[in-house]
Amino acid sequence: MRQEINLLRSIQKPKRNVALRQNSKSDENIRIAREYGEMYFDGPREFGYGGYLDDGRWKGVAVDIVEHFKLRKGDKLLDVGAAKGFLVYELVELGIDAIGIDISKYALEHCKPEIASRMNHASADNLPFLDGSFQCVISLDTIHNLDRNQAKVALREIQRLSGGRSYVKVDSYHTPEQKEIFESWVLTAKFHDYPSGWLQLFDEASYTGDYFWTIIE
Ligand SMILES: C[S@@+](CC[C@H](N)C(=O)[O-])C[C@H]1O[C@@H](n2cnc3c(N)ncnc32)[C@H](O)[C@@H]1O
Repeated sequence: MRQEINLLRSIQKPKRNVALRQNSKSDENIRIAREYGEMYFDGPREFGYGGYLDDGRWKGVAVDIVEHFKLRKGDKLLDVGAAKGFLVYELVELGIDAIGIDISKYALEHCKPEIASRMNHASADNLPFLDGSFQCVISLDTIHNLDRNQAKVALREIQRLSGGRSYVKVDSYHTPEQKEIFESWVLTAKFHDYPSGWLQLFDEASYTGDYFWTIIE
């Protein structure tokens, strides 16, 4: 049954300049970030990542995912919101039959060339695959980019494809102080909540997979 687990523990928590983001944040920057184009991935930090590059960090995450779900060579895995496919690449290196979907045409066009044929354009709330098609479905820092209703649909989609062998990581906060920091940082998330609010949404979506929180500190 549902388990809270940090499958990104191998990655060092990024240091974020919250004050700088707060000063530069505007409705226009949010609008541009939500286009998930070049500005969001590879433009200045005010619009998103400030350069979404493969620095090798996904190798350890791929190992931890394979171990946690006891995946075997040839097992099928879907990454929802796979961006440029860095994690898909590392999973394929481990023998997993991984594919990714993302809403960003820019990310798909700039994905790692080795896995380009494994990357598809789709939205998390309408996954074009048959029920139970995957041994595992994961979605990192993506579901919160949908509004609450769409996020519920996306969670149902992940459940439909994975039968609960799945993992989502979403924006959250444990205290009012963390919530305040988060709100001064966030650009793209349309739904975020305390863990209890997310767990309520998981129940509503009948989502039984595993999960963890992205906390800005
Ligand atoms: C914060 S990034 C996370 C990327 C990657 N999973 C990671 O952890 O590095 C959010 C990703 O969600 C994608 N995205 C946003 N809305 C989406 C949707 N409705 N369906 C699928 N992907 C979406 C964006 O294009 C972007 O690649």
